[in-house]
Amino acid sequence: MANAPLTFSLILLLSLAISLPLNSQEFATKLSKREMGMIKREELTHLHFYFHDVIGGSDPTSVVVAQAATTASDPNKFGEVLVVDNRLTVGPNLSSRAVGRAQGMYALSDLGDAGILVVFNFVFTEGRFNGSTLTVVGRDAVLSASREMPVIGGTGDFRFARGYARTRTHLLDVKRGYVVEEYHVYVFHY
Ligand SMILES: *[C@@H]1O[C@H](CO)[C@@H](O)[C@H](O)[C@H]1NC(C)=O
Ligand SMILES: *[C@@H]1O[C@H](CO)[C@@H](O)[C@H](O)[C@H]1NC(C)=O
Repeated sequence: MANAPLTFSLILLLSLAISLPLNSQEFATKLSKREMGMIKREELTHLHFYFHDVIGGSDPTSVVVAQAATTASDPNKFGEVLVVDNRLTVGPNLSSRAVGRAQGMYALSDLGDAGILVVFNFVFTEGRFNGSTLTVVGRDAVLSASREMPVIGGTGDFRFARGYARTRTHLLDVKRGYVVEEYHVYVFHY
């Protein structure tokens, strides 16, 4: 019976040790790739589509929401901010099959050139990637023949996505306020 207090404290210690991970409220936990469904090999997907920036007309999908006092007189419209919900299609025609939307915003953010900061979520509505999204954040030098922006992440089938988007202007109609950009997106995902 002399050992009773020792047994008791051992049990107490053990139960403390067992309950420790639950009570310690860790904010960072090491996981295995297997637990996160990353046992499949990483895939590389190429997406090709057209982006329709409809600013003018009676049914715009791209609207100016803000500008600076100096924007109107600036040759590069520095400070203008647009919010977009632009259609993405398989072909260059706006009425060709839709594959998703580009939702987000862009800001004219280059004092000396035609350069914009884009923050887009590509929301896909077709085929295998229906419901999945890709997030693109970067600089688009809109007048350059070919531009490149990073894909910084994704959801759904595009979890853990990384890659880049190449874009070029397919059509620029300043009078109508209509721009069509051709996109090639290369993305690694699981
Ligand atoms: C786009 O498609 C519509 C309807 O099919 C057609 O009327 C129009 O001419 C096409 N536009 C271009 C630029 O091909
Ligand atoms: C895409 O997913 C939505 C929601 O699950 C569904 O309603 C729609 O029919 C799907 N579209 C295609 C083309 O599979």
